[in-house]
Amino acid sequence: MGLSLDTLDIHHPDDYAAHGFPWAAWDLLRREAPVFYYERDDIEPFWAVTRYDDVMTVSNHPDVFINGGPRLRLALKGQPEIARAGLDRFGAARGWDPDEPPDLVFMDNPRHRRMRRLASWAFTQGAMRRMQQHFQALAEDFTRDFMADLKAAAARGESRDLVQGLAAKLPLAAIGEILGLPPGDWQRVLVWSNALLGEFAPGYRHPGESRGAAGYRSMDEFRGYLEALVQESRAAGAARGGFIDHLVHTPVHGALLSDQQLIGYLFLLVAAGNDTTRNAFSGGVAALLEHPEQLARLQAEPALLPDAVEEILRWTSPVGSFLRTVTRDFVLNGVTLREADTVGVFYPSANRDERVFANPYRFDITRRPNPHLTFGFGAHFCLGTNLARAELAASLAALLPHLHRLERAGPGERMAQTHVLGYSHLPMRLRAG
Ligand code: HEM
Repeated sequence: MGLSLDTLDIHHPDDYAAHGFPWAAWDLLRREAPVFYYERDDIEPFWAVTRYDDVMTVSNHPDVFINGGPRLRLALKGQPEIARAGLDRFGAARGWDPDEPPDLVFMDNPRHRRMRRLASWAFTQGAMRRMQQHFQALAEDFTRDFMADLKAAAARGESRDLVQGLAAKLPLAAIGEILGLPPGDWQRVLVWSNALLGEFAPGYRHPGESRGAAGYRSMDEFRGYLEALVQESRAAGAARGGFIDHLVHTPVHGALLSDQQLIGYLFLLVAAGNDTTRNAFSGGVAALLEHPEQLARLQAEPALLPDAVEEILRWTSPVGSFLRTVTRDFVLNGVTLREADTVGVFYPSANRDERVFANPYRFDITRRPNPHLTFGFGAHFCLGTNLARAELAASLAALLPHLHRLERAGPGERMAQTHVLGYSHLPMRLRAG
């Protein structure tokens, strides 16, 4: 059956795992129904917004399209919002306020702005420039280990997973350094953040424990870990001066943050940059291997690296969508939206909008300008853009001299998610000869 507005599907996690990004469905929507009332049996209806200019309009009106409504991420009927899931039990045991938003993504102005300012100083371009050399050294170490492992694997005729073996490492180490988490803890944090995505380290799941239950347990363990760090910082006072100390001891609008708010904040900072940056890197490596002429060009002209990073960000678009709640009637591209409606903005679709990008399905590391919306836009514009760019530049620079020796050893696996999209596993091997 051909694709039609009645049958296209952009909301099933299993479809994303089986077929990847629903490009054909988004193309059809952009062409025929750019503001489309999406009604299907197993999801509450929402307006799907797929053109670049319309995504910008929504993002530019944070008073009309708010984050603080009931829905923020695509979820099937009956499925809880992932960031709220598990909070109830953990919070109830501690007397937490059930009405407090899990983190600042769920907030609107003026509170959102105040909360965001508390961390944004640590993620500026200047702060990242100071870290760049250190990221580079970490990336070189991780790459050396991965290449050695690949070589040993090749001797046994085996492959290795690029995602867990390399792509996952720098994002976690980098945020760990910025927050001041002890390096000895990074591995534990990696196990938890993988478990949040439904990927469990061998032996992590208890006998008879369902995947869902193990996921909630990992969130509990991770929050418990953050709680201990927060309490330690409270006890030590502000004098130590690390990031967590700053968060714990700086008043916002006259009051210090509660444990509940602090744990939510730290949870967000660790979780938001891991799978996203990891997916951009592994998707970028896949794209360079699929386009050997682009890889050869980049190897010949490493000065193109910043442009290549931008094109990889556009091409891989790891965040699929965000939802917003409409606060008053609003006409978007000729369609009247009503108060309390839900709107979904689809960033990867905006990044393939032929009205903005010439030949959008061409991977071109020299593309300029490249005004992609991979990090969103407006009030909630990604807080970690400078960090993500610095990490991608460092990881690519480290792998670039070896990249032509790698080849894919299979199709890999994609995440069964509608929010963060990309590979969960991407097997690689060394080329013969
Ligand atoms: C390639 C990697 C990344 C991608 C694709 C990405 C994408 C996004 C997107 C689309 C948003 C929502 C923007 C909007 O609503 O307009 C966002 C928000 C956010 N991102 Fe990222 N992100 C990445 C890396 C990171 C990193 C490394 C961090 C680490 C701190 C981070 C922290 C955040 C935070 C805290 C927010 C919420 C901002 C707010 O609500 O004000 N992200 N990100």
